[in-house]
Amino acid sequence: MTSSVTLSVMRGTPQTGPALTHYDVPYTQGMSVLDALLWIRANVEPSLAVRYSCINANACKECSVMVDGAVVYACAARLTPAGATVEPLAGKTVVRDLVTDIVPSKEQLGAALGARR
Ligand code: FES
Repeated sequence: MTSSVTLSVMRGTPQTGPALTHYDVPYTQGMSVLDALLWIRANVEPSLAVRYSCINANACKECSVMVDGAVVYACAARLTPAGATVEPLAGKTVVRDLVTDIVPSKEQLGAALGARR
């Protein structure tokens, strides 16, 4: 028997603003938050934006999100049957859904200065 878990995902853009959307995801013990997000994208909502690269190697650090208020790597954070709330990183500019602008501000400033030359 397959059980399901509810993942609440903060979605939106700077234009639309944030909104919490709830998804029922098939639950398997040991699955990661990223596994659930990718299941949602493959089966329910292809437009769900989430950044990742290495998936489960915990090497790229691109999958940083907030899960139940704590900063985690989505590929390393394990879901429990209680479900979770997933939000973009706090204090970062949201590009769309869970994708934030992660370029350090000094690099952005350098790029901006370089563009003026
Ligand atoms: S996807 Fe690379 S560390 Fe999570």
